Amino acid sequence: MNILVLNGPNLNLLGLREPELYGDRNYAALEKFVRDLAGELGIELEIHQSNHEGVLVDKIQAAYGKVDAIVLNAAAYTHTSVAILDALKAVKIPVMEVHLTEPKSREDFRRRSFVELVAEKTFSGRGFDSYADAIRYAVEKYGKRA
Ligand code: DQA
Repeated sequence: MNILVLNGPNLNLLGLREPELYGDRNYAALEKFVRDLAGELGIELEIHQSNHEGVLVDKIQAAYGKVDAIVLNAAAYTHTSVAILDALKAVKIPVMEVHLTEPKSREDFRRRSFVELVAEKTFSGRGFDSYADAIRYAVEKYGKRA
């Protein structure tokens, strides 16, 4: 099984960025965390981060035919990006939506998620463990397909 973990804007600043919300571990620690889990579960996993909406759209398009599931923390683009929603709809790859925090219990503008309109399920509010929950769920649900 092959999972693409895709991270949106400002997640490269983990550790520095509002540590009271996002924690004090940096982005390299997040990469290691998900790669270690992939090793443990015996799956292929690619992880990317971009601050640019179009780059995220390109990554989703490039995943077509190559990836069994996408674990997506679109960060601020979650709340704004019709382009990311349309790319996800086009490729029809199962999507697990991820957030470190619980966006719906924060500011009103974080209550809307375009990603949730196509996501299989949302995993939020558990820091790095939101990613682990999403990856385990994807492996359980899509890892056994021929
Ligand atoms: C986030 C929540 C978003 O509202 C925010 O814009 C982010 C990170 C999270 O992981 O909690 O950048 O997706």
